[in-house]
Amino acid sequence: MNQTDDIVQALSDAYDETPYESYAFPLTAPGHLRAVAALYGLKAPAVEKARVLELGCAAGGNLLPFAAAHPGAQATGVDLSAQQIESGQAIIKAMGLKNIDLRAMSITDITKDFGQFDYIIVHGVFSWVPPAVRDAILRVCRENLAPDGIAYVSYNTYPGWKASDVVRDAMILNSHGAQTPQDRLARAKDMLSMLENGLSAGNPMRSALQQAARQLRKCSDYYLIHEHLEAVNAPCYFLEFAAAAQQAGLAYLADAEPQSCMASNYGNNVAVLHNALSAGSPREMREQYLDFAVGRQFRKSLLIHEERAQAILETPEVNVFEKMHFGARLAQAPAPAGAPSKERHYRTPRGRGIASTDSTFVAVVEALRQAWPHALSFAGLLDAARPKAKRTTTQDELTVLVLTHLVELLNADALEYRSESLGYDPEAIKPQWIPGLAALQALACNDVLPVGTYNLWHHHVRLPTDELSKFVIRHINGQTAVADLRTKLRDALASGEVTHPSGRSLKRVRNLDAVAQTLLGEAMNGLRSQGFLL
Ligand SMILES: C[S@@+](CC[C@H](N)C(=O)[O-])C[C@H]1O[C@@H](n2cnc3c(N)ncnc32)[C@H](O)[C@@H]1O
Repeated sequence: MNQTDDIVQALSDAYDETPYESYAFPLTAPGHLRAVAALYGLKAPAVEKARVLELGCAAGGNLLPFAAAHPGAQATGVDLSAQQIESGQAIIKAMGLKNIDLRAMSITDITKDFGQFDYIIVHGVFSWVPPAVRDAILRVCRENLAPDGIAYVSYNTYPGWKASDVVRDAMILNSHGAQTPQDRLARAKDMLSMLENGLSAGNPMRSALQQAARQLRKCSDYYLIHEHLEAVNAPCYFLEFAAAAQQAGLAYLADAEPQSCMASNYGNNVAVLHNALSAGSPREMREQYLDFAVGRQFRKSLLIHEERAQAILETPEVNVFEKMHFGARLAQAPAPAGAPSKERHYRTPRGRGIASTDSTFVAVVEALRQAWPHALSFAGLLDAARPKAKRTTTQDELTVLVLTHLVELLNADALEYRSESLGYDPEAIKPQWIPGLAALQALACNDVLPVGTYNLWHHHVRLPTDELSKFVIRHINGQTAVADLRTKLRDALASGEVTHPSGRSLKRVRNLDAVAQTLLGEAMNGLRSQGFLL
């Protein structure tokens, strides 16, 4: 065994010992990658029949939602950890999915014969593997990517990781000699306490280290073990990654969140100074300058074959939104004291506030909110905005207005967009699970699963675990109408099988129809808004 083999074996053992929780990452969804490519002027293969490869797929939780929703597509996952692959295979078998194949093997053993793929996803792997595996990842992205395919590779970046590097070094120092993962973890956490509370006031890195340590404190144990205590963790500058990709015959297309690479989204000072220093430089160089300004820690880069590099647009072409479908999960937020009465306030899933007095903007947002999780077409948004526009506004002007609002939502990290519709049916009468979830939730009733539950937007969403929701979940089967669910719930409340959420028993109480109706409505709204139901 050479040194790389030793490290690869150590990694495999580590992931067997403490398996990674495997779930859906929305920014890796082939539909999202295709939509981002469209923004930069590139066509990418239709997702319905796409061949998708994920490298370092763990138990396949990021492939399952895609495979279940696209029976005509083919998903292949590769991971070194035989244990994770086996547990994923057992779930796929129990779910009866025929279009997903998980293989226990090293990325380094993939050759051209492994086949061609329209989308290659490598999330959370590149920075945690030795150089030979990093080279293999880029080689596979070149050799096994279809000519018009898109690869997604995420990795830790400098300068944001500089402080985290010191925290990692300190944790590894303190966990030296630990015999078990638990001991290693406990000692690493002791070091975190010192970094949070025991740093000298004169330490020039004090605030950066404290912040990095505080962030880590919030992470789950498995994440701390793999993200920060793993044998390999090699962040790099974006330019270094872009150069390695170019060396492998690939070109940088865009970040999976294009808005994160626009200086104007970080305030006026950043935009002006960034422009002063980097205007006229190649796109990769400008993005590297921006990484210094924002202290970026993590990147999610999309790559294509270098032969297509000339076709990439310098900036996203928002007119393609006219052919897309949209979703936005915005919650209404209270207006702060003193806000104009006409101003409407919203909060994004990441907690960012959005405020507007613009009536067409508010109409677009309200239409998206009402439709969620169903995706609205551009034509649907025009219809929603029309009644709020001036009577003299032409259709072309309205189109520009709605495009501007979509860009505003995109820049606020509030917009999800796809070139294809998603398959939610706002007219559905009988509640029905989205593909794959009926089987997955049944399995989850009896076991802790190594893969997460999901919705058609490729979000990782957890099923509610309260008694009432569990009862409703058990009875959703695509055949039972809402009225019958209500009767079942009423009877369950009256028999004492289910207690009222307040804890009050309704056993033998009569006339529970209205109570059942309210409770069922709440439970169904919860399941619908998470996107579990078609
Ligand atoms: C940090 S986990 C990320 C898992 C998953 N992609 C995610 O983001 O949740 C890294 C994964 O890469 C796998 N891995 C590491 N080296 C590998 C190699 N040489 N070949 C295949 N898989 C590898 C590990 O077993 C582990 O499941």
